[in-house]
Order: sequence, then structure tokens, then C-alpha cells
Amino acid sequence: MRCSRPGCGDVARAEPKFYRLAIIHELIKQLPVDATAIVDVGSNDGSTICDLALALQRPDISFFGCELQLNGQQSLAEYADMLDLDNVHSIDFNINSPRFDFIKGVRHAFMYSIGTLVYANPSPLRLFEELLFSVERVSCLLFEPVSYQLANEFGIKPAFSQAKAQSYGFSDTLWQTIKTLEQQGRIAIREVFPDFISPTTATVMSLIHFESKTR
Ligand SMILES: C[S@@+](CC[C@H](N)C(=O)[O-])C[C@H]1O[C@@H](n2cnc3c(N)ncnc32)[C@H](O)[C@@H]1O
Repeated sequence: MRCSRPGCGDVARAEPKFYRLAIIHELIKQLPVDATAIVDVGSNDGSTICDLALALQRPDISFFGCELQLNGQQSLAEYADMLDLDNVHSIDFNINSPRFDFIKGVRHAFMYSIGTLVYANPSPLRLFEELLFSVERVSCLLFEPVSYQLANEFGIKPAFSQAKAQSYGFSDTLWQTIKTLEQQGRIAIREVFPDFISPTTATVMSLIHFESKTR
């Protein structure tokens, strides 16, 4: 029997939910065993970091959702409170004047970002420098629309043109910044998959995984 509720069983409508689950699944898979802090840069309404905290059930880990917009910060705080997630914190944060005081002294932090670092202006270099300076060891997982930059290097046809990306206000410095940090020997890129497609924005998100080198 088919449900008559509009949209029920419609794969196109369900897809964004599966995409979100795929992101949570990837984050859980890549979480370093000894990480004691998880940082979401550009946490929006806080749903991803709260879902992750809820799924992991790890009171030994502190979760930080970092967001520029006040309503996003408030939404995260309310969501965490509603779900009794005492270890989830809302942080007032700007990627262009980044401060990581909240994780100073942490041995191993896991940082991720979903479609936010491309808004760094003029580049996310300072953010990475502050992060690498504040924490002994960092593992990063980035889901960012940079495929138009990866295309040349990896020989993969970009589905998201540079012109289109720039019309969205995306900066094209993210990939170059990551490569520069790698060339300086400060990070090691572990994996790059330039084919993670967001059904909500039709953006090709590249999944980039790297770790800081031991200081
Ligand atoms: C694509 S959304 C992030 C989606 C979110 N990570 C999620 O899983 O739902 C981009 C976010 O970056 C935030 N943002 C934009 N510029 C920022 C800045 N300069 N500093 C911090 N956050 C910023 C926006 O307010 C927005 O919430």
C-alpha cells in the first residue's frame, strides 16, 4: 500500500537526509581514537554537531559548534539543552579572526567543516595557523566545495565551475592554502575524494582528510 502523504517515499526528498547521515557516518568513521575535542567550524543551527554528539554518546569528548551568526549560536545552545548534551558548547566564532582558546591544551582535536571554509576572506590560512598553534595534534575532515580547484591536479572533470563557485561568493584559496601547509611540512594530506555531492545545494563537495605533523 502506498502512503498518500505528499513526499512520502520520494527519494529526491529523502536524499538530503541520507546525505546528512553519510556525513555523520564519515565523521564517526574518521574520528581519531584519542581525540578529546571535536570542533565544527561553521556549525549553522548546530544540528550536525548535536547529532554527532547524540550518536557518539561520549561524555569524555567535548563538542564545540563554532558559528558567526548569533541565531545559529542560540539554536545550537537550545538544541543541546533540549537533548541534555552537557558536553556540547556553542562558540561565537569568526573564521577570519579565529581564536581557539576553548581547546587550548587539548592533546588531539578533530576539526571538521562543511561548506564554510570557502567563505574565508581572503584565505583560511590564519584559521589553520591558529589551530595548529593551539593544539598539539589536529585531524581535519573537510567537506568543502573546492572541486573546481582539485580538477586540474587530479584530472577529474569539475561539475561545479569556478565561475559558478565565485558567483556564490566562494573563495578559491582553500585548496591552495592546504597545499601550502603540506609543502611547509606542517600537515599530511591523507585522502581526497572530489566527488561528494550535496543534493541540497547541488554542490560538489570535496572530502579532504589531513593531519598535523607532530611538533
Ligand atoms: C554551509 S553553512 C554550514 C553548514 C553546517 N556545517 C551544517 O552541517 O549544517 C555555512 C555556515 O558558515 C557560517 N559562516 C559564514 N561566514 C562565517 C565566518 N566568517 N565565520 C564563521 N562562520 C561563518 C554561516 O553562518 C553558515 O552557518
